[in-house]
Amino acid sequence: MFKMRYLKLAVVLVVGMLALGAVVIAQEPNTELSGDLEIFSWWTGGGEEAGLLALIERFQEQYPNVNVINAAVAGGSGVNARAVLTSRMLSNDPPSTFQVHAGQALNALWVRAGRMQPLNDMFEANGWMEQYPQGLLDLITDSEGNIYSVPVNIHRSNVMWYVPGKLAEWGLEVPGTWEDFLTTTCPAMQAAGVTPIAVGENWTQVHLWESVALGVLGAEAYQGLWDGTTSWTSEEVNNVFTTFAAVLDCANEDRNALSWQDAAQRVANGEAGFTIMGDWAAGYYLIDLELEPETGFAWAASPGTSGTFMMLSDTFGLPVGAKNEEAARAWLSFIGTAEAQDIFNPLKGSLPANITADITNGDLYNAYFQSAYTDWTTNAIVGSLQHGAVAPPAFLDGFGNVIASFAANRDASQATANAATLALQTGIGQ
Ligand code: GAL
Repeated sequence: MFKMRYLKLAVVLVVGMLALGAVVIAQEPNTELSGDLEIFSWWTGGGEEAGLLALIERFQEQYPNVNVINAAVAGGSGVNARAVLTSRMLSNDPPSTFQVHAGQALNALWVRAGRMQPLNDMFEANGWMEQYPQGLLDLITDSEGNIYSVPVNIHRSNVMWYVPGKLAEWGLEVPGTWEDFLTTTCPAMQAAGVTPIAVGENWTQVHLWESVALGVLGAEAYQGLWDGTTSWTSEEVNNVFTTFAAVLDCANEDRNALSWQDAAQRVANGEAGFTIMGDWAAGYYLIDLELEPETGFAWAASPGTSGTFMMLSDTFGLPVGAKNEEAARAWLSFIGTAEAQDIFNPLKGSLPANITADITNGDLYNAYFQSAYTDWTTNAIVGSLQHGAVAPPAFLDGFGNVIASFAANRDASQATANAATLALQTGIGQ
């Protein structure tokens, strides 16, 4: 079944490429570029890895003499990869190119430190200024108009995953708000011996927190956390933490030992009712677990967030001192194309960032993608904290500790005071 699915996808991809016509078919491989090309990311398993490997395979057809080194470091949300990257950058040993989130993860760290090379020439030469949404271009551009990375996708953070047949068995519905979840869903599931919400290690708790914050505050006040118009010590933010505490009381106690995949799997198994995770979980359900969208797994906006799409984007940049810069530029020029994005995203669970990609093709992009695309193009858009869009890495790192302490002591006033201090120290709202 696994093979069949890959086969089907491969057939669709090949047919899609043929449809692109002579450009792809007639393109002679470039044999002049050679040497090692080290691609650094945190995609080491399942749909994520499959997507990356499919990209590398197509790239190698075009550049057969380039030796691609897949330098992926395991760990969800790049928790380990980002630390390894930092130490390599500090010892002047950057990879040829590396994965980095669009937004503050890129700008407040590597761009500010002068460690990235602008890519405006590439964007202009490829016609990409018209092929990427302006809001996304803004996230990868500095105040002087320099563009510093190439986006490969758009992911959604505020998604709640479940299995429809299980919900029906338990006689429950998808909760529309956190209040519904806490007063109806959670007690009913606990009475049935099911974990209401599956959560994993620290970063997945921050991921859950950002969905709770969006659900409790609404899009505007959530956005205000990052532009300084919502005070961290306000009553509303205090409510976010008290709601978050109640949600944690509905979660599995062994959470710190679980990866995001483990948590997602508990939902698929029927051990847990829901999990809140970005839509790389769609890639996991589709590719790793071979489940069908809408029956094997289903999705809804996380409680209270219907009408808002919390986005993030995986991008690749060109560090100063990149090894084999020419090959790195060829890689970046490739991954920004519609062709590359249609190879990558159906496996990854994300939407193509390049708007000329074939997203409306239902054979390539199934029901999950169609639903995400509708929301992406009609909803209010806000950025993810955990996945680098809205806050500097220094804030995020400190906030992981705030959440760890809060999970242990449930002290909302300490948590909001610490978050307020962090915001001040890291320049949020200034
Ligand atoms: C995110 C990243 C996704 C996915 C996820 C889980 O930060 O943007 O592409 O890799 O982490 O590791």
